[in-house]
Amino acid sequence: MLPYAEPYKIKMVERIYRSTEKERKQWIKEAKYNLFKLKSSQVYIDLLTDSGTGAMSDKQWAAMMTGDESYAGASSYYKLKNTVKKIFGFDYFLPTHQGRAAENVLFSTIIKEGDIIPGNSHFDTTKGHIEFRKAKAVDCTTDEAFDTSSDFPFKGNIDLNKLENTLKKYPKEKIPLIIVTITNNSSGGQPVSLQNMKEVKKLAEKYDIPVFFDSARFAENAYFIKIREEKYKNKTIKEIVKEMFSYADGMTMSSKKDAIVNMGGFIAMKSKELFKKASVYNIMYEGFITYGGLSGRDMNAIAQGLEENTEFETLEARIKQVEYLGIKLIEAGIPVQRPIGGHAVFIDAKKFLPQIKKEEYIAQTVAVELYIVGGIRGVEIGTVLADRDPVTGKNRYPKLELVRLAIPRRTYTNSHMDYVAAVCKKIFDTRHEAKRGLKITFEAPIMRHFTAEFEKIK
Ligand code: F0G
Repeated sequence: MLPYAEPYKIKMVERIYRSTEKERKQWIKEAKYNLFKLKSSQVYIDLLTDSGTGAMSDKQWAAMMTGDESYAGASSYYKLKNTVKKIFGFDYFLPTHQGRAAENVLFSTIIKEGDIIPGNSHFDTTKGHIEFRKAKAVDCTTDEAFDTSSDFPFKGNIDLNKLENTLKKYPKEKIPLIIVTITNNSSGGQPVSLQNMKEVKKLAEKYDIPVFFDSARFAENAYFIKIREEKYKNKTIKEIVKEMFSYADGMTMSSKKDAIVNMGGFIAMKSKELFKKASVYNIMYEGFITYGGLSGRDMNAIAQGLEENTEFETLEARIKQVEYLGIKLIEAGIPVQRPIGGHAVFIDAKKFLPQIKKEEYIAQTVAVELYIVGGIRGVEIGTVLADRDPVTGKNRYPKLELVRLAIPRRTYTNSHMDYVAAVCKKIFDTRHEAKRGLKITFEAPIMRHFTAEFEKIK
């Protein structure tokens, strides 16, 4: 068999600056060892997120030029509405400016104080929007997700026992929806199987609870279903996506991921009644229902992106690049979440630096080293992100301390991946020299991740 290669070539490039270690030591100190505080010009390879950082295609740029910027009833709105209907099967749709805005509108409509929202490792903004409404997110992720060395193919799955126990425990009125995040970002970009989606829907029907998919990386999830779920190996990605969403009552979407645009989101649903109620909040928070915080050109680009990124070849190139980096790290002996996820490689920091105490922010310590040694910006998914218990004010130490290296779509080449792997290996080979981690010198009352300040412990 011939090797695979990308189904595109590059038309425009952007210069990036490869700084020196001396410069980076100074910059990260000035940034108080928080990677969010760096200027992008101080970063060589930016793996902070795959959200809004992808490269649009020539066809997406062309679609931007034909955007209809009418306030009401723009043709760009209908174009996206029709694409949403075609790809996901939903009749009702509301554009929003990004994924968390979709959550805000939907949750304002259906979540009230004291509610319970089961799901699989709800994403931070999802959890934030739930907790802000004094409701509770109950994590029903399968236990396999917490063992980074297990090769279980669907670590994003919902544990049906955990879900049913939750559904049984509370009255129906207290559970406005179940949220299935595809792929599951927080557990390592891990997919949910179609079988699991089907079973979740069956259970939800038994208890008469709607199911919504948090769909940021739905296409990557569909790719994994095709590759890993025998029954679907001969189906197209579009056919798989159609079946996936037949088990949902609606979806929230961050178009910044699998629609490969720099900004955008939406909500789609089956129920006309819900659409009508949600429209009120959309108008209040986002904009009129036919633009929802987006320009017409943005909606055109999303429609085109959804079409392109539900093609097998586009997804194969993307996911194989993430895997390419992951395999290089595994070959170097570096502990990572396995199997490699769809959008990122997650380094298991507790295994990387076992000598550092959890009180000294292990994953943040590894992330800072990656920056100093190689100018690579990843992100901590560990104690800093998990934040403090709202009641005790003490750190909530999560099961996993991860450093996420998220790969933007169609942005970096495999030479960049080779470079990233070499930097990781260099740090890993000298890991025994690390004696101490970091201490926090400033933290905001909530969401400290973005603004916390640290000092190196000598
Ligand atoms: N849901 C999931 C699963 C996400 O990963 C994100 C964003 C959102 C919802 C919110 O979407 O950013 O458009 O408002 N994830 C980004 C990340 C920020 O880096 O993983 P948004």
